[in-house]
Amino acid sequence: MSNRTPIIAANWKMHKTVGEARAFLDSFLPGCDTSGKEVVIAPPFTALAETEAMLRGLDRVHVAAQNMHHEEKGAFTGEISPLMLLDIGVNWVIIGHSERRHIFGESHGFISRKMAAAVRHGLTPILCVGETLEEREAGHTFDVLREQLATAFEPIGEEGAATVVIAYEPVWAIGTGKTASAGQANEAHRFIREWLSNRFNNTIADTKRILYGGSVKPANISKLMAESEIDGVLVGGASLDAASFLEIVNYG
Ligand code: PGA
Repeated sequence: MSNRTPIIAANWKMHKTVGEARAFLDSFLPGCDTSGKEVVIAPPFTALAETEAMLRGLDRVHVAAQNMHHEEKGAFTGEISPLMLLDIGVNWVIIGHSERRHIFGESHGFISRKMAAAVRHGLTPILCVGETLEEREAGHTFDVLREQLATAFEPIGEEGAATVVIAYEPVWAIGTGKTASAGQANEAHRFIREWLSNRFNNTIADTKRILYGGSVKPANISKLMAESEIDGVLVGGASLDAASFLEIVNYG
């Protein structure tokens, strides 16, 4: 573990109605120990306002959107803008999740524009990067990370870069029950930190919170968080159940 404040984030993906989000928070919040860490909850768009209302006033528990468009408004059917998120008190946003990249075909350019918009509007982006199994097996992991980082940070200056949170999520570990080994995660996180140091400076690299995501569970959280390069986690499946996510948040 480092001296960077850890972030434990829940990505609910396309799960939970408003009522289900409320029930989750009713049982999760009373037991959630936030000392020395921050907690982020990313519900679907329809439950954002209710989640925000229930978390309001809690310093260390934030609500995040799972995605957004980069434009402020316009003819973009089905999209949600940064201004709409800010309007309901949402200040965090996940950008470039592998499901957005691979299922919905989001390009590097699109993700880069979203990053610029997030920073411009003062939203904290959680930028997701990570390689597929095919890319890892072909020995391209670092090339993939380099390209994802270079394009996402392309429009971002030093000040903006300081606000970004990064999640390393190897695609082959997401929802598969396969967790990257501590060695694999550390190696990727170290690469990301080194890239940040070359692109920006040592301060940004040293203070950057780099989360790990991919089959994080109550059974592996302590081991992951014991790694010096892992500054938190982004949890999908195991964040849907309040008891399971509580065990993850209250690790150690
Ligand atoms: P998982 O998902 O924990 O279900 O593997 C992680 C993610 O996609 O953020």
